[in-house]
Amino acid sequence: MTDSKPVGVALLGYGTVGEAVYRLLAENRHHFVQRIGGDIEVRGVAVNDASKPRDGVPAELLTDDAVGLVERDDVDIVVEVIGGIDYPREIVLKALQAGKSVVTANKALVAAHSAELAAAADEAGVDLYYEAAVAAAIPVLGPLRRSLAGDQVKSVMGIVNGTTNFILDAMESTGASYDEMLAEAMRLGYAEADPTADVEGHDAASKAAILASLAFHTRVSYDDVYCEGISHITAEDIEAAKTAGYVIKLLAICERIVDAEGVEKVSARVHPTLVPKDHPLASVKKSFNAIFVDAEAAGQLMFYGNGAGGNPTASAVLGDLVGAARNKVHGGRAPGESTYANLPLADFGEVPTRYHLDMEVNDRVGVLADVAQQFAQRGISLLTVRQEGSDNGARLVVVTHAAREADLADTAESLKSLDAVKSVNNVIRLEG
Ligand code: HSE
Repeated sequence: MTDSKPVGVALLGYGTVGEAVYRLLAENRHHFVQRIGGDIEVRGVAVNDASKPRDGVPAELLTDDAVGLVERDDVDIVVEVIGGIDYPREIVLKALQAGKSVVTANKALVAAHSAELAAAADEAGVDLYYEAAVAAAIPVLGPLRRSLAGDQVKSVMGIVNGTTNFILDAMESTGASYDEMLAEAMRLGYAEADPTADVEGHDAASKAAILASLAFHTRVSYDDVYCEGISHITAEDIEAAKTAGYVIKLLAICERIVDAEGVEKVSARVHPTLVPKDHPLASVKKSFNAIFVDAEAAGQLMFYGNGAGGNPTASAVLGDLVGAARNKVHGGRAPGESTYANLPLADFGEVPTRYHLDMEVNDRVGVLADVAQQFAQRGISLLTVRQEGSDNGARLVVVTHAAREADLADTAESLKSLDAVKSVNNVIRLEG
């Protein structure tokens, strides 16, 4: 586009994020015009019910015909902030096929359908941007795509879900139960009416898939990510972690690993994790997000900030919108999908993890040896073993060195059937 026509924008969705995008675009349009090198105009806002007035949006911009809007000749860029998967997939594909660049904040859509979306963008020679899909305002996808394009990323690990971080942090600071703090998260508007995607780790798993794909130049989908949420974490787990010098965080962990045959693979997983109290991720409180990137030449980098909310998400959407608009005005494309490395994906069972286990055992001769034997016979080395007296026997707290996840899980199961072991509690993986 080399003439002076304004870049036309279609906004799909007018929820918390859509409202913030529209408002900030209107408030800062004069800045955007300078940064883009051309004018920008919203051509329409697609909503469910176009007859319902939306504060600040002229009635003539509202439409319930999203397909008609994205296919209009005067629309150059489509901003999708509807959420969900099937309906936005249909509209975004139509937009790309019609030659429109797309900016989306939709992690579930990108994590489930990145191959199809990237192919459609390539076919049409347009941009597909989704910085807001991971950790909202925190610029982490741009650095992975551009700033670290000259480096080899070894791992990306972090807190990428604000709701679960709020719940775990509140459980830690108040001693309250998971249910109480989930109710508090819902009351404060952090958790959705249906909080399943957050608390069961699905939201973080979508983000892990996107991070792993970009970091390792390998396509990783939502279904490839091992996912365990926080709904089973008890106040006792939090207390036991505290006593042992840890906090529990829901981490997304994406790594390059080398398997037993020396083959390099990619692993992506989400699960509650014990983090030592002095680890930087332990100090990430409330609903904040933080992401550690470890790269061969750069070393460790940390990104921290607001991972949710209207304005923070709109900040990332608008950054992408400016980039896509510049390309419309001046020509050129953003970096597309890079999957050239195409590394095999590791089974979760072969990924090296570390376990913390807390057991109630009989206080008698040979118990420690029986327990240690279960680890030794699977080649698992122990880092620390601590025994304390308890009301009805003894409490044994074991922290292992890294071993194959499958061997650790098998050991935890077999310990439960030992005569000397009354219960195995607080089986939580550990990092850092
Ligand atoms: N619900 C997410 C969170 C934000 O709690 O972090 C959007 O991904």
